[in-house]
Amino acid sequence: MSDADAGMKKGLTRYGDDAFSLFVRKAFIKAMGFSDDALNRPIIGVTNTFSAYNACHMNVPDLIEAVKRGVMLAGGLPIEFPTISIHESFAHPTSMFLRNLMAMDAEEMIRAQPMDAVVLIGGCDKTVPALLMGAASAGMPAIMTVTGPMGTGSHRGERIGACTDCRRLWAQFRAGEIDAAEIEDISGKLVPTGGTCGVMGTASTMALMTEALGMMLPGGAAIPAWAADRLRHAEATGTRAVALAREKTAPDQIITQASINNALTTLLAVGGSTNGIVHITAVAGRLGIPVDLDAFDTMGRNVPMLVDLKPSGRFYMEDLWKAGGLTAILREIPDLLDLDCPTVSGRTLGENLADMPDGWPQGVVRPRADPLFAQGSMAVLKGNLAPNGAVLKQSAADKALLTHEGRAVVFDNLADLAARIDDPDLEVIANDVLVLRHIGPKGAPGMPEAGYIPIPKKLAHAGVKDMVRISDGRMSGTAFGTIILHVSPEAALGGPLALVQTGDRIRLDAPNRRLDLLVDEPEMTRRRDAWTPPPAHAGGDRSYLKLYLDEVMQAEDGADFRFQRPSVKD
Ligand code: FES
Repeated sequence: MSDADAGMKKGLTRYGDDAFSLFVRKAFIKAMGFSDDALNRPIIGVTNTFSAYNACHMNVPDLIEAVKRGVMLAGGLPIEFPTISIHESFAHPTSMFLRNLMAMDAEEMIRAQPMDAVVLIGGCDKTVPALLMGAASAGMPAIMTVTGPMGTGSHRGERIGACTDCRRLWAQFRAGEIDAAEIEDISGKLVPTGGTCGVMGTASTMALMTEALGMMLPGGAAIPAWAADRLRHAEATGTRAVALAREKTAPDQIITQASINNALTTLLAVGGSTNGIVHITAVAGRLGIPVDLDAFDTMGRNVPMLVDLKPSGRFYMEDLWKAGGLTAILREIPDLLDLDCPTVSGRTLGENLADMPDGWPQGVVRPRADPLFAQGSMAVLKGNLAPNGAVLKQSAADKALLTHEGRAVVFDNLADLAARIDDPDLEVIANDVLVLRHIGPKGAPGMPEAGYIPIPKKLAHAGVKDMVRISDGRMSGTAFGTIILHVSPEAALGGPLALVQTGDRIRLDAPNRRLDLLVDEPEMTRRRDAWTPPPAHAGGDRSYLKLYLDEVMQAEDGADFRFQRPSVKD
């Protein structure tokens, strides 16, 4: 970076006279009281992802102050700027629909404004991958800190927290075990503090993967939103950002095939959200790094699941923090990691692990010899129902259902599901396989987290807790059950899922990684020939929806936009 390319001189607005551009830029920023001394320092952009709609980012203003303090302690000038903020429950039609928009926003704002490095403040599910995707594409030295997990609440003496308990307690309400007054009362207890969901949901998964990837300072992923350590981590992040600016360490020096593999290993070891595979594929894709589902499945057979957190286990993220966080996990599996990967700390992953305090007795991270799940918290399925793959989180499934054959009960879309799932006349038994289609990237659109198909009310009332469920959508990392997701190609593209009929037999064979529709090929050909695409989405001829529908790729490509990748398959 030459002097002409640094700080306030960076990316001058094009008036045809660079000296004038700098003069006018300084004139405007001096209106905010900056001195020439301040303006001559390395400039560290700080993403402001606060939104009054986003409780998961409630502490962002405090984090920004801490980051700024760290930047100034290191002799830099912090300048915050707003980006889109996305909360899972406040995004229509889905947060996933907007992830790529946030990534574009972050990328372009990082590129357009003068800064020498950027501090990314993520948290809620989509904000971490969106910021990483944007920063990777922008090529700017970048470092992530997160808002951190929320604390846990209490309901009538029971410890609860979003959002595994949201789903478990809602299922109890649907089954008639909890009445309307109690479920209303519970809604005030599930999210007792700001911060991200306190279980191994997508936010926690992405935070841990980001730390393992090397884009976050060690120890940062699990610190609760309410802890003083959270602010100290933010301060240290600001300080380190100044060094990254001076060293000119761009994301492509940190995010490599090896560090992506470290992140994927972490995903498996923590029993993370199935969304983690989609998001890390999108991040890697921004730098032309492929993520192969078959290789991921093979990796999974060697990586034990060690973390006893909901939804697969018992504890919450604040317990993982007290148990030593990611460090305690990675120290159990050093041979499965590439410890030579550089990180934003300026040291390698191995050096970071060596520098962290020694471990202590705890019961949240299991020893390698006594894992929660011996291998493959996640399995990649292939078969005639999912030629390009599907994902099953085995660790959150009913083990008795991992090998299962049943009769398909098909729901054509979300409206059909809503209309019929609780119909007392619905012909369904516990052994059936529930199929929900047209909730993929293009079909929904936005690939909603609707893959957690509710147990039909009459079966729930009869005590049925789990069934095999299949869709081309996603599932919240906080959910549980024998649920097959990301079926590709999706139904809206005419994938085999579009051809399933109620009454067909479906066989799941998770140990052999198979998912098959037991319909003979002549009949499949007849159905394929008769298939017609679903009607076009209203409003899909303009605006962001048109861009999304035209460009979004399938789950195995991270559901990113085709044009955002250096090279993609046809
Ligand atoms: Fe934001 Fe769960 S809703 S992390």
